[in-house]
Amino acid sequence: MTDLCEHLFPACREQAEFSDEARIDWLRRDRWISLPQAEAALGRLEDLLTYPQRGRMPCLLLFGSTGMGKSEILNRFGELHTAQYDKRAGLTTMPVVVVQMPPQPTEEEFYTELLLAMNYAEFNLMPLRTLRSLARRTLAEFGTKVLVLDEIDKMLAGSPRQQRIFLNTIRFLTNDLRIPIVCAGTEDARIAVLTDPNLADRFAAVELTPWRNDHALRQLLASFAGLLPLRSPSDLDTSAVRQRVLSLTAGVTGRIFRLMETIAIAAIRSGREMIDADSFDEDDLLLPLVSMQVIAGTQRAMRRRAA
Ligand SMILES: Nc1ncnc2c1ncn2[C@@H]1O[C@H](COP(=O)(O)OP(=O)(O)O)[C@@H](O)[C@H]1O
Ligand SMILES: [Mg+2]
Repeated sequence: MTDLCEHLFPACREQAEFSDEARIDWLRRDRWISLPQAEAALGRLEDLLTYPQRGRMPCLLLFGSTGMGKSEILNRFGELHTAQYDKRAGLTTMPVVVVQMPPQPTEEEFYTELLLAMNYAEFNLMPLRTLRSLARRTLAEFGTKVLVLDEIDKMLAGSPRQQRIFLNTIRFLTNDLRIPIVCAGTEDARIAVLTDPNLADRFAAVELTPWRNDHALRQLLASFAGLLPLRSPSDLDTSAVRQRVLSLTAGVTGRIFRLMETIAIAAIRSGREMIDADSFDEDDLLLPLVSMQVIAGTQRAMRRRAA
C-alpha cells in the first residue's frame, strides 16, 4: 500500500493504511498545522519573549474574527514555553501564562482565572487586594516573561465602568510587572483596547485576515492533499475547489478545517478515497457548521434554478 500513496507526505503515508475507523478518528483530532499567518503571529510572540526589560514594555493585540485561529496560536505559544521545574534550584518557571478572560469581566474573576492558569488553587474567598497581590507575586516568582489574555472581547459584556477598570488592570500589570501583555480578541476588542489612550500607543496590532483565492490558499489545499489519509490522489489545486471552499467558509480558518475534515470522512465512507470539486457538491454531505449548511443550501437552490 505504502508505495501507492506517493501523493501523501512521507510522514502521512502509513496513516492511509489504517482502517476506516482509525483514519476517521485521526481526522477528528486536533493538531497544529503550520499556516503562514499563524507562523508570522507566533514570530511576533517569540520576539516579545526575548525583549529586554525596560520602562515601557511593548504589547501585542492579536485580532480577527471568531474561528480564525487566535486561540490555537496562543496555546501553541504556551506549549512551546511550558512550565519547567528546576530540580537543583527547587524552582518552577512559567515563561508564558495564558489566561482566558472570565465571562464576568470583574477584577476578582480575572485574578482568579490568572491564578488558576498558574495552577494556584487555594484562594477561595480572598478579598480583591489579596488576590491581586498574590497574582502579582506568583507571576514574579514564576519568572513569567509574557502574559497572554485570550478572548478579551468578553470584557465588552461588562458595564462601561467595568471595562474601564479592566483596561486599567491591563495597564497596571504591564507597568508593575514590566512584562509584555498579549491580548487576543475580535475587532470589537481591538476598538475597545485602542480607544484607551494609555494603551493605544503601546499595543501593536496583528490581524488574522480571512483566506482569499491566492497562493496561500493553494498552499493550504496542497497541504491537505498531502496530509489527509486518503488512498488516492486528490485534485484540490483547481480554481473550482478554491471557490467552493471560500464560498462555504467565508475564508475562516476553523471552518475550512472542519469542511476538509468532513469531506475527507465522506470520501473514506463512500470508498471514493479522494477529494475534488465534486466532493463539495454531494447533496447528502452533512456540513459541519450550520452557517455552511445555509450557504450550501442557498447555492444548491440557485444552481437548480439556473439548470
Ligand atoms: N494552525 C492551526 N492548526 C490546526 N488547526 C487550526 C489552526 N488554526 C485554526 N485551526 C482550527 O480552527 C479552529 C478555530 O480556531 P481557534 O483558535 O479556536 O479560533 P479563534 O480563537 O480565533 O476563534 C480550531 O478549533 C482548529 O480546529
Ligand atoms: Mg478563541
